[in-house]
Amino acid sequence: MPLNNAIDLTGRRILLTGAAGGIGAATARACATLGVKELVLADTGSLDQISDELRGQGVTVTAHQCDLSQRRDNAELVAAAGDLDAAVACAGICPLEEDWLDDPEWDEVFHRVMDVNLLGPIHLCRELLPVMAARGAGQIVLIGSIGGRMGGTSPIVQPHYIASKGGVHAFIWWLAQRAAPQGVLVNGIAPGPIAMTATTIYPKDRYPLGRIGEPEEIAWPAAFLCSPAASYFSGSILDVNGGLFVG
Ligand SMILES: NC(=O)c1ccc[n+]([C@@H]2O[C@H](COP(=O)([O-])OP(=O)(O)OC[C@H]3O[C@@H](n4cnc5c(N)ncnc54)[C@H](O)[C@@H]3O)[C@@H](O)[C@H]2O)c1
Repeated sequence: MPLNNAIDLTGRRILLTGAAGGIGAATARACATLGVKELVLADTGSLDQISDELRGQGVTVTAHQCDLSQRRDNAELVAAAGDLDAAVACAGICPLEEDWLDDPEWDEVFHRVMDVNLLGPIHLCRELLPVMAARGAGQIVLIGSIGGRMGGTSPIVQPHYIASKGGVHAFIWWLAQRAAPQGVLVNGIAPGPIAMTATTIYPKDRYPLGRIGEPEEIAWPAAFLCSPAASYFSGSILDVNGGLFVG
């Protein structure tokens, strides 16, 4: 195999969910740096800022404000996107307020977390897989969490989030086995604590590298998993956590 730079997204069309958030926007920027031709961005929040920034770099951008916990929104998004080379599902929530032992609201929040973090990516893949399989190619990246690996790293993270991310990991393994024979690669990333747009919930001094991660440190591996360099990855979940969890 020739030693060209295979971490190159030149000419590619990639869908990013949660693109208004920290990791999603950083992934969009990483893809742009690697030459992506077109990005299809989706989020419940406004995508104006990141879209303008990327267009300024010559990337073709379409933006969809939608609720990806809903199957219909995922169906409309993928139908509007057309042919895609890859997709990264970054949309997610991590509510911290309700206490799972006592709070009467907790069950409702549990269902919302599951809808956004687990059912949403499943809905997305239900739409993506047939389209990518018809082309015989495609790369799907789901964002899990170190929480799904080892129960979380912060005492205030709630079990609905942990269970949802463990579910994402199991779903990656399930889908990867079914998608690979159709030419579609399904992989994931399990980030450790990353600086969030909304809040920082992690005590930094607990960590082997003495700091939490930056969104870019998840974005580059995500862009890599969308590239030709990742052509033999299927069912892998990359642990990107600064040494907090090894195993
Ligand atoms: N930041 C961390 O420490 C960390 C650690 C492990 C895993 N993760 C995961 O990485 C992903 C990205 O996290 P982040 O740090 O960028 O968080 P973030 O809050 O900055 O971004 C998440 C984005 O998802 C969007 N979103 C939420 N619900 C949605 C819905 N129903 N439909 C469409 N979009 C929706 C939000 O509007 C937001 O822009 C999430 O799945 C998160 O669980 C984050």
